[in-house]
Amino acid sequence: MHALSSIPCLPEAASTPVGAEVYRGLTALPKRLSPWLFYDQRGSELFEAITALPEYYLTRTEHAIFAEYGDEILAAASGDRTLAIIELGAGTAAKTGLLLAAAARRQGRVSYYPIDISVSALEAGRSRIREEMPEVVVRPIVADYTTELDEIPHPGGRRLVLYIGSSIGNFEPSEAASLLRRLRGQLAPGDLLLLGADHIKDRNTLLPAYNDAAGVTAEFNRNMLTRIRRELGASFRPRLFRHCVCWNDRESRIEMHLESLIQQEVSIPALDLTVGFRRGESIHTENSYKFTPESVGGLLTRSGFVVERAWTDAKKWFGVYLAEAV
Ligand SMILES: C[S@@+](CC[C@H](N)C(=O)[O-])C[C@H]1O[C@@H](n2cnc3c(N)ncnc32)[C@H](O)[C@@H]1O
Repeated sequence: MHALSSIPCLPEAASTPVGAEVYRGLTALPKRLSPWLFYDQRGSELFEAITALPEYYLTRTEHAIFAEYGDEILAAASGDRTLAIIELGAGTAAKTGLLLAAAARRQGRVSYYPIDISVSALEAGRSRIREEMPEVVVRPIVADYTTELDEIPHPGGRRLVLYIGSSIGNFEPSEAASLLRRLRGQLAPGDLLLLGADHIKDRNTLLPAYNDAAGVTAEFNRNMLTRIRRELGASFRPRLFRHCVCWNDRESRIEMHLESLIQQEVSIPALDLTVGFRRGESIHTENSYKFTPESVGGLLTRSGFVVERAWTDAKKWFGVYLAEAV
């Protein structure tokens, strides 16, 4: 998130993270909004619901990898050293529980630092872990990992940074490399990154994962407009936007859009802005890039990491990569 303070004469709301992002995204052509805007309290709840959908294979598959290989992953990461575990975009840390339990089996007490912009998701994760795993000490950090990586703690000893759920796929390749390079800059040689990445697969599996029959992902997508209504007083009527999903083969990515069903104008009083939409014009809300083991390896190498080990599921749908900062 970046402030727009250098642009004169904009209302004050345009310098808040949400205001700045909405102003920038809806005055751009084509229009776009960043996926971090999904995650207000309702958005975090909807994401949890998505993870349980039959079509959303990502969480289930990565969960199965952690269930089968959690002890092996932690053994490879720690060697004979004590690990502090940090997680970027932790959400409610549902899958992370498997890795925290494996760490606790190896070393007893575990310090865990989940970083997220969603206070409600962090709080839900902390209460659950405190109840289920008293040996894990949870220290949540509310921060934007794209701009506040210096919030990464240095508790001493070896650090294992989890960046799972294929969240790296939300970034354009150059942004992903730049994010990982900045992360590398915060780490010491020998610290580790565990990166979860969704692999390229057939589009009949990919598309329904982002366009489920029950319409939960559509509601998740439109919730961004509800959030902008609430926080900036915008006149968006979310039902006048259609949830659209496509596979962009050239870029190897799923794209999510909100397409205007009619020609309309939306006013955003807090930003002193009126935005016109043509019928069929869309707001691009999310990219989910898909990877091969080679493309993940290349990304990590370009960013100052060396892949030590990798784990996948029987169908090779998802990969979990352990990489060392060099
Ligand atoms: C797709 S969910 C993944 C949650 C979890 N890691 C998983 O694998 O199920 C993305 C999470 O990252 C958080 N998030 C998104 N952008 C963020 C950012 N720039 N800084 C911090 N957290 C962010 C969201 O609030 C949300 O909890």
